[in-house]
Amino acid sequence: MEVAGRKYRTVWMEGSSVFMIEQNLLPFEFRILEVKSYAGCCHAITRMTVRGAGAIGAMAGFAMALAFREAPLENFLRYINKAREEIEATRPTARNLFYATERVFNAGLHSREAAYEEARLIADNDADDSRRIGEIGNVLIPHGARVETHCNAGWLAFVDYGTALSPVYVARERGKEVFVYVDETRPRSQGARLTAWELNNAGIPHVIIPDNAGAHLMSLGKIDLVITGADRIAANGDTANKIGTLEKAIAAKEYNIPFYIAAPTSTIDLTCRSGSDIIIEERSPDEVLYQEGPDDNGVTRKILVCSPGSAALNPAFDVTPAKFITGIITEKGLIRPGEDTIKNLLTI
Ligand code: MRU
Repeated sequence: MEVAGRKYRTVWMEGSSVFMIEQNLLPFEFRILEVKSYAGCCHAITRMTVRGAGAIGAMAGFAMALAFREAPLENFLRYINKAREEIEATRPTARNLFYATERVFNAGLHSREAAYEEARLIADNDADDSRRIGEIGNVLIPHGARVETHCNAGWLAFVDYGTALSPVYVARERGKEVFVYVDETRPRSQGARLTAWELNNAGIPHVIIPDNAGAHLMSLGKIDLVITGADRIAANGDTANKIGTLEKAIAAKEYNIPFYIAAPTSTIDLTCRSGSDIIIEERSPDEVLYQEGPDDNGVTRKILVCSPGSAALNPAFDVTPAKFITGIITEKGLIRPGEDTIKNLLTI
């Protein structure tokens, strides 16, 4: 996507360096970071410099490729296995991370070059899949539609285009009017900070709403459809996504509003039979208790916004049962979620 007239991907590799957009600084500053080691890639994922299912997957693939480059000849496999464990420990819920480490690990057993090639291919596929999701999802967006989205499943969350926002971008390219209700997505505010920044950058009309406003707006008939991303989709269609997604889906069902998940098939995990098999990442209570942003001098400040001394609980994701999901938009097509439809999709 373009920022200030220049094309960027969220994360990319040049030689033995991995470059990425520093997402913690957005929307206040646009900065590119460079790391040169697998440990640096891990740090970028745990710090959420790079976040979002597809971008994490691409980063994990690059990290694995760098590990093959760094591994000493003696203890080669021990080094690689340890690196893989460390990469996979960075974010447990994002399926794409594990998908990428496995693919690059297997390729790297042939040669270091093969590991690099595979990592590049994963990133390219992620961008292509996202674009295709946009084409397929565009059909679901009528002219003048008002779309609600949760968290950030735009191009910052993938290598390019995004998933939930990709149909919106394509609809706009095709000349449709689209308005987006952006859930702020506490505690880290990926909606208010990242989705809103993306939409501003693309000139798409939108408004940020408090996380608890969705059902109210649905009850007033102000929302035509909901599209969110996914971090992991179980074999039966149950879907893990950013915390707060479940209640949007339940409310949408109550008000007969279509609720779509947009995700590449690389997010599907057949080893999870249902949502109860998905491990939910729990993050630091500080993300709930404090908010961060620049002061008048541009210096980032962290301030307490809760009752001093109170504890906080911070589950990062929830699972929406398949029965609340109208359809899953993938690069291979739109399906109704269910064991058979998902199995069939993966054979295409
Ligand atoms: O914790 P994050 O920001 O990495 O959250 C993941 C997400 O971006 C969302 O859950 C998103 O909707 C999934 S698709 C990228």
